Amino acid sequence: MHDIQQQLEEKRAKARLGGGEKRIAAQHAKGKLTARERLELLFDEGTFEEWDMFVEHRCVDFGMADNKIPGDGVVTGYGMINGRLAFSFSQDFTVFGGALSESHAEKICKVMDQAMKVGAPVIGLNDSGGARIQEGVASLGGYADVFQRNVMASGVIPQISMIMGPCAGGAVYSPAMTDFIFMVKDSSYMFVTGPEVVKTVTHEEVTAEELGGAATHTAKSGVADLAFDNDVEAILMLRRFFNYLPLNNREKAPCRPGFNGGDPAGRLDYSLDTLVPDNANKPYDMKELLLKVVDDGDFFELQPEYARNIITGFARMEGQTVGIVANQPLVLAGCLDIKSSIKAARFVRFCDAFNIPVITFVDVPGFMPGTSQEYGGIIKHGAKLLYAYAECTVPKVTVITRKAYGGAYDVMSSKHLRGDVNFAWPNAEIAVMGAKGAVEIIFREDKGDPAKLAAKEAEYKARFANPFVAGARGFIDDVIQPHETRKRICRSLAMLKDKKLENPWRKHGNVPL
Ligand code: HXC
Repeated sequence: MHDIQQQLEEKRAKARLGGGEKRIAAQHAKGKLTARERLELLFDEGTFEEWDMFVEHRCVDFGMADNKIPGDGVVTGYGMINGRLAFSFSQDFTVFGGALSESHAEKICKVMDQAMKVGAPVIGLNDSGGARIQEGVASLGGYADVFQRNVMASGVIPQISMIMGPCAGGAVYSPAMTDFIFMVKDSSYMFVTGPEVVKTVTHEEVTAEELGGAATHTAKSGVADLAFDNDVEAILMLRRFFNYLPLNNREKAPCRPGFNGGDPAGRLDYSLDTLVPDNANKPYDMKELLLKVVDDGDFFELQPEYARNIITGFARMEGQTVGIVANQPLVLAGCLDIKSSIKAARFVRFCDAFNIPVITFVDVPGFMPGTSQEYGGIIKHGAKLLYAYAECTVPKVTVITRKAYGGAYDVMSSKHLRGDVNFAWPNAEIAVMGAKGAVEIIFREDKGDPAKLAAKEAEYKARFANPFVAGARGFIDDVIQPHETRKRICRSLAMLKDKKLENPWRKHGNVPL
């Protein structure tokens, strides 16, 4: 018995060494942690249960029969993150460059299947050279098996990808189907084809970092949500992020009241009364409002560098997770364009799938005009956000802080799209368009008479540039003082706690993709 136990420990020690001391040192020299070190950081101390440590590949080609490393390049299992269950797979670059074999894929599939059975999130730590080249189509099949599971898990359990090394070719499509993608600066990249292929096909010269590094995907393509400086920061932030999420689509996110028993629901903030400038064309920072309204000024922003004219992220109100969507008047006057519509639509759909109430702060002058927007399909992409809000059944609270013009008024969680509670600040302007534009159209014949136009503009402003016309129709439920915004949202959310609303049965809707 003693011998067998010893053998077991020896086998474990061998597996834990992965590709060996030299490759571990090389990994560290690149500023990267190993697959196991990452998992140790991710999970609460001593809670990680590893599975399939002794799995080996079955490839016999190209000398692989004699080249087997237990675990086969991926460490899988489950553990606790701040006391809550999560499954994870962590690719081990020290073993065949983390490349995905048939067995490697089976290990990933096994934890995904188990996570679905028990209803817990899956976190992928990606660091891989892609398909195991020696295995050929067996490896491709393995990828597809993972893809299929990504899709089945979508909207059932949260899926998070952390890109911590290479992620290239078709391999990018598994993270692409997860809910959130985080990257590590300078050590991770994602692209469908690498710089060499790009050079051959399009004659462009580009580095891997320029083509698919963290800066590219967080600011240009919008593929990734956030980038972190190094592995340690990335994983610690991932643990923080995890706290906002429910374990699955049948649960609510955990309630974390915060410091000193929690930020009081009735907290008033008088500085909000002067946040919006008198001049409707002057911008202000919407983030200031968010930080003053949410619990403890704690806001976890997603995609902060992408489509900055809209803000998305998680916060808490009375300890309960909420999703925040807000127009940002500081960027492009807060208008809706292709990128911001897509960014916000995907976020709203995540919140809806996972029982997270959505709070929307509106200051929107409309959709962005121009040929680049029209040729790029703003009609279809803007419709994504409209669709997302309209199908959303979780509690929806909306606050119009200033402009809510035109179609964008309808889109931004309006009453007509089943907004539960819709507030406006006293200076809000809810109208088809701004007074100047409106007058120029309806009094076109007075174009040569600036005095008359100015009078008409003033008349239009007095008639429509306020929240009371919408209020008179019940399109907004109340006009509130800016300083009481937090209090009124908290009360609304408490009232909506047990909201029940179902959409009609259908196989699935047809989102304008
Ligand atoms: C097998 C691989 C591998 C792979 C790396 N290795 N990628 N083994 N299959 N895909 C091995 C290397 O041979 C090497 O082994 C070890 O991992 C470390 O690799 P290095 O090249 O020394 O590391 P580095 O210089 O950091 O470069 C990393 C890399 C490079 C950029 C990822 O290895 C590389 O370009 N690999 C090939 C990438 C690729 O073309 N993959 C297929 C993409 S197509 P030794 O023993 O020498 O140390 C794809 C399709 C998926 O993935 C389709 C899904 C539908």
